[in-house]
Amino acid sequence: MNLKEEIFKLKEKLDVTIVAHFYQRDEVFELADITGDSLELAKKAMASTSKYVLFCGVGFMGESVKVLSPEKRVLMPKIACCAMARMIDVDYFDESLKKLNDSGITNDDILPITYINSSAAVKARVGEMGGMVCTSSNAYKIIEKGLTSGKKIFFVPDRCLGQNFAKQMNLVSAVIGDGTSLHDADIICYNGFCSVHQLFTVDDIEFYRNKYPDILIAVHPECDPAVCDASDFVGSTSQLITYIKELPVEQKVAVGTEYNMVNRLRQKNTYILSSTKPECPTMNETTLQDVYDSLKALENEQEEPYPNEILIDENVAHWAKVALNRMFEI
Ligand code: 13P
Ligand code: SF4
Repeated sequence: MNLKEEIFKLKEKLDVTIVAHFYQRDEVFELADITGDSLELAKKAMASTSKYVLFCGVGFMGESVKVLSPEKRVLMPKIACCAMARMIDVDYFDESLKKLNDSGITNDDILPITYINSSAAVKARVGEMGGMVCTSSNAYKIIEKGLTSGKKIFFVPDRCLGQNFAKQMNLVSAVIGDGTSLHDADIICYNGFCSVHQLFTVDDIEFYRNKYPDILIAVHPECDPAVCDASDFVGSTSQLITYIKELPVEQKVAVGTEYNMVNRLRQKNTYILSSTKPECPTMNETTLQDVYDSLKALENEQEEPYPNEILIDENVAHWAKVALNRMFEI
């Protein structure tokens, strides 16, 4: 029996839901009971009735499921950490707050919003300060709601997402440390970014537009603001899939997001917006063998933690849940 068949056999036997983000390798993605963008995965995994969740994605995604459903046992075949989420921890968060305070902006003047691509500890810090979480598919709504507080938004960790939504909303943004005026800004961004989405450039867009004058360009909001400005559509992974699938078959489209997802979309007339292969290294860490090993570990029911089981400190889990629930309420 090959590895895939072994996995299906184990899956049938165990009370487990396999969850996979769109950026997973094909052979892992094909095993999943639940797929989606970050927001959908958090919601669907929470609604699943199984005792175990095997999350194929990056660390913050598995953590979010555990925070929202503490009664479930959440395992990750690989605890791969999103490079952007790693750019901020609670110390960096507090240092940034201090920089704001030193420039005369007090904690009472700001409302923190963290992109879901952050650790549970950062989400908890944001929750404690009255703030909330957003994802690439609901950032507009969440920021809009945040602004009704009359405060400036302190947006972490993705500067591009913060800048892109500020532009869409006709707001002024600033990035801590890049020389822009924090005082004039409605949205103050932490200086984090996604190294995969930084690979897409305006030159790539020009290349495709010169080659195919009628081509459409669709990108993720983690791309640089200049790239988003020059594109025809900007959206979360799910929004990109819907947009592309609804195009007439003969319509050419170049897509600026992770390679595995784009490669899986309709093959004809769909191009990756880069001359390189923009794979997310951490999303690609999870292999079929890892999935098999995790399921095999689950076969022997045990009280003590399984390898790569997600465990979160109670206080962190409480405040991270507060921040996530504020998002769901909106
Ligand atoms: P989505 O929420 O759009 O799936 O994005 C997650 C992500 O990490 C994109 O790089
Ligand atoms: Fe993180 Fe970028 Fe990978 Fe998304 S593509 S999981 S933001 S490193």
